[in-house]
Amino acid sequence: MHKEEKNSGMETLNNSNNQRSLERVVSQKALQMSTSFSCQICVVGFLCGLCFASLILVTLSSFGTFLFPHYSFSTTMPMLNLSWNSDLNTTITHCSFKPQETVRLTDLRSRFEEQDERVSLLNSAWSCVLTKPTKTERSECLLKLGISESNLPNPPHLENCKVKPQLHKRLDTRIGNDKFPPWTTWKGSLDMHPQIHQTVSEGAYPPWIAGSDEENYPLTRKVQRDIWIHQHPSNCSNQDVKFLLADWERLPGFGIGAQIAGMSGLLAIAMNEGRVLVTNFYNRADHDGCKGSSRSSWNCYFFPETSLQCLGRALELMKSEDALSKGILTTKENYTSKHIWTGPTPRIWGDPWNYLQPTTDINGSLVASHRKMDRRWWRAQAVRYLMRFPTEYTCNLLNEARHAAFGKIAAKMVLESLAEEWPKENGERPKSADIDKYVWSNHRPWVPRPLLSMHVRMGDKACEMRVVEFEAYMQLADRIRSHFPNLNSIWLSTEMQEVIDKTKEYSSRWNFYYTKVRRQDRSNVSMAEYEGSLGRERSTNYPLVNFLMAADSDFFVGALGSTWCFLIDGMRNTGGKVMSGYLSVNKDRFW
Ligand SMILES: *[C@@H]1O[C@H](CO)[C@@H](O)[C@H](O)[C@H]1NC(C)=O
Ligand SMILES: *[C@@H]1O[C@H](CO)[C@@H](O)[C@H](O)[C@H]1NC(C)=O
Ligand SMILES: *[C@@H]1O[C@H](CO)[C@@H](O)[C@H](O)[C@H]1NC(C)=O
Ligand SMILES: *[C@@H]1O[C@H](CO)[C@@H](O)[C@H](O)[C@H]1NC(C)=O
Ligand SMILES: *[C@@H]1O[C@H](CO)[C@@H](O)[C@H](O)[C@H]1NC(C)=O
Ligand SMILES: *[C@@H]1O[C@H](CO)[C@@H](O)[C@H](O)[C@H]1NC(C)=O
Repeated sequence: MHKEEKNSGMETLNNSNNQRSLERVVSQKALQMSTSFSCQICVVGFLCGLCFASLILVTLSSFGTFLFPHYSFSTTMPMLNLSWNSDLNTTITHCSFKPQETVRLTDLRSRFEEQDERVSLLNSAWSCVLTKPTKTERSECLLKLGISESNLPNPPHLENCKVKPQLHKRLDTRIGNDKFPPWTTWKGSLDMHPQIHQTVSEGAYPPWIAGSDEENYPLTRKVQRDIWIHQHPSNCSNQDVKFLLADWERLPGFGIGAQIAGMSGLLAIAMNEGRVLVTNFYNRADHDGCKGSSRSSWNCYFFPETSLQCLGRALELMKSEDALSKGILTTKENYTSKHIWTGPTPRIWGDPWNYLQPTTDINGSLVASHRKMDRRWWRAQAVRYLMRFPTEYTCNLLNEARHAAFGKIAAKMVLESLAEEWPKENGERPKSADIDKYVWSNHRPWVPRPLLSMHVRMGDKACEMRVVEFEAYMQLADRIRSHFPNLNSIWLSTEMQEVIDKTKEYSSRWNFYYTKVRRQDRSNVSMAEYEGSLGRERSTNYPLVNFLMAADSDFFVGALGSTWCFLIDGMRNTGGKVMSGYLSVNKDRFW
């Protein structure tokens, strides 16, 4: 027995070369006895958060199995710092392991490294698919990695941004003159299947609402359908079709949320006056990412609020004095800003806001009623309608964000699901079948669920509301987790670097994901100034991506006192998330 080893209770074999989280333990007890017993090594890998830790268990033939899964690597315990190439070899020799087992240990190490490499490889291959638009470029990019396209597993976290908007376009266009789009009693692309049974269109509900009626604000489906019909007259050239043509607010003080809130007011006015709302100049889309006619238009990010025919007609009417004076067309200048801001909620559906259920938690109790419930309900309907279908551009932005955040874990998940060791060619990879195309294509792209979205707003909001510290948000996250212990992923959206820094304190229990963007390091910078420093394109794209991620997350924690979170709340309550509840760190300032 070797003296220097006798006193060490345990040895940690630290793969210090690459700092990968492979931790290996060899029981010294076993080593002490190893001279007289033949050692056998068995290896157990288990998942620890996102990293692998592996325990090497030493089994002694006459003592049964020693299992040490919960060893704490206390520093008071004498440790040996062994590197794989030399010391381990020595240890193993000392322990008189058979050469066969040595091979198996080395195998283990390289297996983990190989696994890591494969994950990176698959992740890079998916990046090719994401960033290279043409088939040739994509094949070239994949070829460099040594992957053939036919051998590339589907990325579960990415959406097909060519196909999805086409489907949405069909669902947003009338067939013939006065019929509905092919809204059916089924979802997705089913009605394109050649053997589809007769579809029921008349009276069908709009396809952009997820969840049951019980999981949405009262009358959501009916209201969305009615707004769509109102905004899409069967013939925009008819003399009796009237318009409200409005630019988006563009004063520098208007945040992206305030612009949408203002447009909700205009949509309310348009509905009340029987006008088709047509939106015109959108300053946030005035950048090179928005190509062609979508430049400076809402249509860059989302499907237009009305048909192209109506847009054309409204712009044509704009040129005629007559249309303005006769009141066929109005513009924003016809309404006071107070009128727009208080946007009188349309009453054609009665007062469904009286049926809003208490699902919002503020300071530990549910808010049953508050002032301006009608506005909360209406803004939810308006923002849902305006954002009903993202464009190909927005779809790509979301793909990029999901790939950056979840690409690696998706790759790991997919590799674990494969029977063979990818990228070994396998002739039997299942071909895409009808069920993929018609049935499963409607599923949302994968994200690690349950996912909690958190929007931490500080910065210049201080002048509007009490600024809440990150700790308060995390307390709410913990409250959700105490009921749903399987929750450990947070999609964090914030403009403050300070908040990102603070996540480290919580990273042992939570996985944080966020978009990579330069953040504010001082809190006295105004939002307008900060956005200016990011540039038009990024300062629009990154909040919109976060907004849509928040709308689709399982849970949400935010500050209802900010317009942005108010709108997220609205999107969720018209997107099947009412019963997720909403935990707010503060109240709307008007409640
Ligand atoms: C372990 O080895 C690494 C690099 O070989 C060294 O930086 C570290 O200080 C060592 N730790 C101990 C406890 O000896
Ligand atoms: C490990 O030990 C074996 C045999 O004992 C020897 O052949 C080999 O070169 C050693 N490897 C290293 C990296 O020291
Ligand atoms: C739309 O209405 C205009 C004016 O009433 C008419 O000239 C035109 O033919 C109509 N278009 C269709 C497709 O019905
Ligand atoms: C809208 O404003 C224009 C010009 O300011 C005016 O001629 C028109 O009568 C107004 N329309 C309505 C409906 O108030
Ligand atoms: C939150 O509730 C506690 C008691 O439950 C109360 O003491 C505290 O003042 C409340 N805070 C706010 C901001 O309403
Ligand atoms: C903001 O704060 C920093 C220090 O925290 C200070 O140097 C700077 O002058 C301030 N800027 C403004 C516009 O107040």
